[in-house]
Amino acid sequence: MIYIKSEQEIEKMKRANKLVMEILSTLKNMVIPGLNIEKLEKKALYLSEKGEGIPAFKGYNGYPSALCVSINEVIIHGIPELRILKEGDIVGIDFGILLDGFYGDAAITVPVGKVDNLGMKLIEVTEQALYEGIQRATSGNRIGDVSYAIQSFVEKHEFSVIREFTGHGIGKELHEDPLIPNYGKPGTGVVIEKGMTFALEPMVAAGGFEVDILSDGWTAVTKDRSLSAHFEHTIAIGEEGAEILSQFS
Ligand code: MF3
Ligand code: CO
Repeated sequence: MIYIKSEQEIEKMKRANKLVMEILSTLKNMVIPGLNIEKLEKKALYLSEKGEGIPAFKGYNGYPSALCVSINEVIIHGIPELRILKEGDIVGIDFGILLDGFYGDAAITVPVGKVDNLGMKLIEVTEQALYEGIQRATSGNRIGDVSYAIQSFVEKHEFSVIREFTGHGIGKELHEDPLIPNYGKPGTGVVIEKGMTFALEPMVAAGGFEVDILSDGWTAVTKDRSLSAHFEHTIAIGEEGAEILSQFS
């Protein structure tokens, strides 16, 4: 069941996502070699409360934290426990919030100090893959068109898309229908309509797309331990294409 949102509901989602991005940009600016990532979690909790939002991930299916902090070979769902960032790491920060009945959800991957060419290229390709997907998310297109745009862009750059995890509808729930895989065939899947709201989130690996889950039951890493990056935006489908609700202000 895909829920179509009214203009007022989309306005609320915009406010939730604005808070998400304000917090993410503060966290991004904290990323330097030597940072203990527990500080990111503490800051996110403090700023959520200050903004009167409720962190979306903490307690979701038992997830223990407000943030997912996913370093290097970690794809997603890295738990922010004591760990010191080193020069050359790449760090994914994924954050969601519930504000006034609606969710916002976004993710970025940030270089720690000077990162090598492979890491920088992986970050650039993953972010651009997200925008390639957003461009195809227009009313009348299908979910498969979005999935294919992401996959083909990534594979053109000789990286692979993770298949195990997907983007999703979002609104009154963090995860709503439809699932939005980061691979697929054009012309297939649900027809996109105005008023649908999606979280698109390509996860890209420098090596293969196979995944291992670590013994904490959450941390997803590439099986070959190659580097991985993740970007996510919440978008709303309008008359003329998609609007990014989780814009950096
Ligand atoms: N952005 C991810 C998602 O939408 C983060 C979820 S973490 C979880 O699935 F703990 F909430 F699962
Ligand atoms: Co998400």
